[in-house]
Amino acid sequence: MKRILTIKAEEGMVVAGDVYNESNHLVIPRGTVLTRDIIDRLKYYAVFDFYIEDDKPIKLASYNMDDLERHIFSEYKIESGGYFRRIKESEQFREFENMFQESVNNISDCINAVVTKSEEVNIDQLLSSVKKITDDFNPDVSLFDMIHCIEGYDDLTYVHSINVALISRVIGKWMGLSPEECDTLTICGLLHDIGKVMIPIEIITKPSRLSPTEYALIQTHTIHGYNLLEKIELDERIKLAALQHHERCDGKGYPNKLRYNEINQFSRIVAIADVYDAMTSNRIYRKGICPFEVISIFEENIDAYDPKVLFIFLEKIAQSYVNAEVILNGDLEGKIIMINKYALGRPGVLVGGAYVDLSRQDNMEITALM
Ligand SMILES: [Fe+2]
Repeated sequence: MKRILTIKAEEGMVVAGDVYNESNHLVIPRGTVLTRDIIDRLKYYAVFDFYIEDDKPIKLASYNMDDLERHIFSEYKIESGGYFRRIKESEQFREFENMFQESVNNISDCINAVVTKSEEVNIDQLLSSVKKITDDFNPDVSLFDMIHCIEGYDDLTYVHSINVALISRVIGKWMGLSPEECDTLTICGLLHDIGKVMIPIEIITKPSRLSPTEYALIQTHTIHGYNLLEKIELDERIKLAALQHHERCDGKGYPNKLRYNEINQFSRIVAIADVYDAMTSNRIYRKGICPFEVISIFEENIDAYDPKVLFIFLEKIAQSYVNAEVILNGDLEGKIIMINKYALGRPGVLVGGAYVDLSRQDNMEITALM
């Protein structure tokens, strides 16, 4: 490995470490093979120098797919087979499932106590199992893949609440919030949908399209949630998250059509975690959407969400899949080799020996992780 100046960079050199810009955003990941575009990108981001592998540059004009793959992915080689199946079979996932079960028990006890006895929320008990999960797995994106693999629970509201709590907590850490703020944000996630206990279960679990009346009824869970929590001694932001997590920054949410500044910051974070989990989780009646499709959907609806939170979140998620094997257009196989900051849902992919920049290929898209 050696350090070189960006002005000395040549096509075909292999980057030996992740390269960040001054504001700590990833410009290119380790393992990237330099092309003219990538060198221009380094210059654009004023990267002065970086590390490359000692090997001779790969000849891009006549490279052989096997050589290139071996070179780039030697340390990241992902075995063939189902991406999520391998996660489900891992020891780490079994530990995660046990901790997850403990969280489900805690939250169901807590919600029952609030709803049936108007009891105080036992914050410590509620937090302990969720904190254990994030502390054991660190603020690591593999946690998101584990969340995706959770299945077999009947009561999806509890599962969803824990997922939203975990995702919100990780976002809080990525945003540099204090440990106390991250704890409060976690409780916001755990209790955001508490108002759903007041909605008939047949409507909550209805797999087909809701009628306008049913949809209006389901929307009231935000107000029910706030009313349930209002009488309990809790941080105001937790109560507001129950009320505001369906508000959208462009004023098109509910129940009060609030806009960006009128929505509490924690509610804006929970909103993103809520939508992400709703789209990526497997449900009885539908399969979760591929994370890259979810990223593109968020990018298309950018006005609805807090842009600062959304960018940090999507960039971290996208980065976590650098080197992942993917399926494109339902049958092509490829490998993600670089993330495009300006189109996070459409990264650069190696397909059948060719580099494809998905941000310039409207007719191609990632449909699944392999
Ligand atoms: Fe909700």
